[in-house]
Amino acid sequence: MDTTRLAGKNVLITGAAQGMGAAVGRYYAAQGAKVCLGDVNLEGAQSVADEINAAGGVATAVSLDVTKRESAAAAVAHTVAEFGSINVLLNNAGINKPLFFLDITEENWQRIMDVNAWGTLVCMQEAAKQMVAQGKQDFPYKIINVGSILSREAFDDVIPYSASKHAVLAFIKGGAKALIEHNITVNGYGPGVVRTELWEQLDKDLVAIGKFKKPGESMDSLAENMILMKRYSYPEDVVGTAAFLASPESDYMTGQLIMIDGGMVMQ
Ligand SMILES: NC(=O)c1ccc[n+]([C@@H]2O[C@H](COP(=O)([O-])OP(=O)(O)OC[C@H]3O[C@@H](n4cnc5c(N)ncnc54)[C@H](O)[C@@H]3O)[C@@H](O)[C@H]2O)c1
Repeated sequence: MDTTRLAGKNVLITGAAQGMGAAVGRYYAAQGAKVCLGDVNLEGAQSVADEINAAGGVATAVSLDVTKRESAAAAVAHTVAEFGSINVLLNNAGINKPLFFLDITEENWQRIMDVNAWGTLVCMQEAAKQMVAQGKQDFPYKIINVGSILSREAFDDVIPYSASKHAVLAFIKGGAKALIEHNITVNGYGPGVVRTELWEQLDKDLVAIGKFKKPGESMDSLAENMILMKRYSYPEDVVGTAAFLASPESDYMTGQLIMIDGGMVMQ
């Protein structure tokens, strides 16, 4: 592993207490980035930061609710206070709760859109304001948004989530256009089926609404029927692309969403 690939990158990662956010945090730090791990679960984020620091990396944790502007601004300020500046934002926080079309409630819609869509927009704004204030640098500032296969597809039992992830794609495209004058690029990656705490809960919820009969069936069924590679993925499957998007190797890219889904969605 190139331990200097991300040297000089001061990164804020949202939703980094577990799952893909934590895995990418560990991987970024191992490649030389300084990482600020933000999460509503501060204890979880702190334990990931402690683990990174014990392994010789540089990490800090901050309490962050992406749906609250003042919390997003405070997490950006914490990153700057710890590392001197912020030059990469990874918008990873996200939630899901499946319901069939006719059962979708206002509460279900609002909560998912609030965290996944509004939370992403707010964090982009607060990080971009700081990047603009820092002034232009030799290399681009980078905003990386975590989309999904459902940024380009919609399943009948997760429509608000699909809408929220389509919004994330809109932020990638529109944000790229809005922010390039400040030398800020906006890209993203879209995982497919990833075995994390999010999917463990989703699997239980899908059994509860009657979509699948037994625990684990959702992942196995999708792997068998919808994933070309015939297996679901793990957080380690996304870290390479996440590092590429934070590294100088992607400096000439903006407005792009890269799928990491074993071959589920092609467009
Ligand atoms: N797991 C999958 O199959 C999958 C597939 C495609 C996309 N994604 C997306 O990848 C991202 C990471 O997912 P994961 O599977 O690692 O999830 P996860 O549930 O394991 O981790 C998500 C983290 O976000 C945090 N979080 C939730 N609400 C928050 C808020 N308001 N403010 C700050 N933090 C908050 C949680 O506490 C948690 O630590 C999400 O955006 C998710 O939508 C996941």
